[in-house]
Amino acid sequence: MTYGPEVRERLERDAKEIIGRYPRPRSALLPLLHLVQSEEGHVTEDGIEFCAEQLGITPAQVTGVATFYTQYKHAPVGEYHVGVCINTLCAVMGGDQIWNELSEHAGVGHDEATPDGKVSLERIECNAACDFAPVMMVNWEFFDNMTPEKAKQLVDDLRSGKQVLPSRGPESLATWKEASRVLAGFPDGRAGEGLQAGPESLVGLKLAQERGWEAPRADVERERPEEPVKAEEMGSTPQEPGKPVSGEVKPGSQEGRNK
Ligand code: FES
Repeated sequence: MTYGPEVRERLERDAKEIIGRYPRPRSALLPLLHLVQSEEGHVTEDGIEFCAEQLGITPAQVTGVATFYTQYKHAPVGEYHVGVCINTLCAVMGGDQIWNELSEHAGVGHDEATPDGKVSLERIECNAACDFAPVMMVNWEFFDNMTPEKAKQLVDDLRSGKQVLPSRGPESLATWKEASRVLAGFPDGRAGEGLQAGPESLVGLKLAQERGWEAPRADVERERPEEPVKAEEMGSTPQEPGKPVSGEVKPGSQEGRNK
């Protein structure tokens, strides 16, 4: 492992704090991956080994998780990681066009960084901000109601070091490494800054207030879901793992899966 003694000591201290928040050490894997990403900007072999050591699991188990979630990067990204939502609603509202023009303008593709290391681009899926479509994100902060022109200006500003502000939330933009540390569970104090829910997100609430609509009370009597069947009522011994459901059904067959 190539972490220097100082870095290692600091990471171990932070890892201990993170692990202490969970009933079982392995539950801390996701924030630990963000922690190592905050150190080097992406999840390296060293980072994977470090997580495995701290949690008492294998590097293969850590790698399985780190390669499943797209928020963990396996090659360097830019100081500002720029996501363009190309999921259904954003796509039809212009997200595809933004991606095409921005990618050509910056000269980089999906999960690639500009040569100056300032900006990387990613095609991302729905950010649960469809009411502001088409949406972009920089280090997971929202940039709403984008156009190809606004997107290109945003990337140019980031590359030239000009300060840019998200449409909602913090009044300054964290770097990729700083944002990763926040995701590891070490707040930077910016979470409560700026506009939180935008007007578009509050339209339903406003309508409900104007019309006197209320959510049903939680304590009213409702039809109860059926009680789960108890094991002793099932009539036969539970299926042993790896065995076919019945003598005639082959393991792994569709018939077996549907039983
Ligand atoms: S489709 Fe883009 S935020 Fe939902």
